[in-house]
Amino acid sequence: MPPVEIRNVSTLFSAEEIAARVEGLAGEIAEAMPEDILVIAILKGGFVFAADLIRALHGAGMYPRVDFMTLSSYGVGTESSGNVTIVRDISDDVQGVDILLLDDILESGRTVAAARELLLSRGARSVKLCMLLDKPGKRKVECEADFCGFSVPDLFVVGYGLDFAHYYRDLPFIGTIDE
Ligand code: IMP
Ligand code: MG
Repeated sequence: MPPVEIRNVSTLFSAEEIAARVEGLAGEIAEAMPEDILVIAILKGGFVFAADLIRALHGAGMYPRVDFMTLSSYGVGTESSGNVTIVRDISDDVQGVDILLLDDILESGRTVAAARELLLSRGARSVKLCMLLDKPGKRKVECEADFCGFSVPDLFVVGYGLDFAHYYRDLPFIGTIDE
């Protein structure tokens, strides 16, 4: 048995809706960016989205390279701590590179804003933000996505990479935990 109570999840976006939106995002990105980009996915939440998006980018005629960065701004709860720490860094050199920085959800904006500043300070040519979800009402720093999958209300959501206490990342859809 898992150490937290696993409850049912009500669907906000089905697997089919997500797949269609990921295809749409790939088209938008292919129009706006050069073919040769480095996708940097923020772990852990961004890995499912990244896996689907890079294959959609391939289909849209791009040649994305991929790297990962583990950042931590949350404990095991549902409130951002405000402190962003690098748990694991990328291994690629970003000097002169066009980067698509990707994460599961834009909330306060602290996580991706900190990552973008770091990459620009290392000499990246450009850094565009691609967020699967956006909670516009929760922003604490100035930070907007260049490409956004879906806007969501101020609810805690799980699935498709997003977790609650490290569970639910495996759900093929996105939803809210039932009370
Ligand atoms: P920010 O730095 O406040 O924008 O936090 C973004 C990070 O918080 C995301 O990468 C997620 O890991 C996490 N997060 C924010 N909202 C949710 C949610 O509703 N469900 C699961 N994780 C969330
Ligand atoms: Mg995350």
